[in-house]
Amino acid sequence: MSRAAPRRPSLRVPSYAKVNLGLEVLGQRQDGYHELRTLFQTISLHDDLELRPAREVVVRCSHPGVPADQTNLAARAALALRRYARRDEGVEIAIEKRIPVGGGLGGGSSNAAATLLALDRWWGLGLGRAGLLPLARNLGADVPFFLFGGTALGLARGDEVYPLRRQVKGHLVLALPGRPVSTAAVFARIDTRLTPRENSHNIFRFVSSDLGGSSALRVLVNELESAALEEAPDLKHQVRRIRGFLVRDGALLASLSGSGSSYFGLFDDAQSAGRAQAALRGAGFHALRARTLSLDQYARAWSRSLGMPRTAAK
Ligand code: C5P
Repeated sequence: MSRAAPRRPSLRVPSYAKVNLGLEVLGQRQDGYHELRTLFQTISLHDDLELRPAREVVVRCSHPGVPADQTNLAARAALALRRYARRDEGVEIAIEKRIPVGGGLGGGSSNAAATLLALDRWWGLGLGRAGLLPLARNLGADVPFFLFGGTALGLARGDEVYPLRRQVKGHLVLALPGRPVSTAAVFARIDTRLTPRENSHNIFRFVSSDLGGSSALRVLVNELESAALEEAPDLKHQVRRIRGFLVRDGALLASLSGSGSSYFGLFDDAQSAGRAQAALRGAGFHALRARTLSLDQYARAWSRSLGMPRTAAK
């Protein structure tokens, strides 16, 4: 006779997106990855995960671009944690997708980290962020960042994460060209032109705060951008136009996020962001608004959702 799944309340947790405020590729690593320096930033755009008790690990998601099987990164996170903690119960993870897929916004990685954080609490494992870190690293280079959120420096593969004292605050406009770009393919293009170097100082100058105020953001660049546009040449024209709108309306920083295809502008004030969004929409682009989410705001959002388990629907 099959064993009934234990009855527990269901749990609904947010899974936030990120942008890369800056990204420097320093060289190739022996493990096939690239040595990076990046500045991560969580933003208010988020998916929602609803966890329910189940006998197996199951993912449900109606988005056609998201695998609804055990290759899904959230399922892999649950399976890895179950193995590590020697549990035999499962979980059903229903993903309400809002973060564009293949958009450089870290949706899959965020879903994986959210699953780890939620199940650690739900299964009463007490591992915490430090205990979850090795599992997160195995799942993907961006997953560790989402255990912390806020503004953080990412080194090594991007998986060595240092939350910053100085948290960036602002309003974002995200322009979404609506086509995925493969991260692996973009990094592969980088290889042909890479001169290894350790001396690019822009991100370090930003982090060490010898640049004052929001103008500091202007030194940041995403070194994946030209490789991403070679990989997806159809985006070149769009990106030029998107950038034009964002800069015209006063973006402090206008950049591709990760390996794309999402392009964002970061603004000091909501009015300028609103104008840029309206201009982009007027020109036929899909443009969303978001806010930066600081380290504290991220931690608060997590404690709110983990502190208030909801009763399972019958
Ligand atoms: O770790 P993740 O699966 O998210 O990375 C996707 C792909 O991006 C990797 O397979 C690798 O090709 C590339 N990548 C890289 N160097 C990094 C991060 C990612 O080459 N630091």
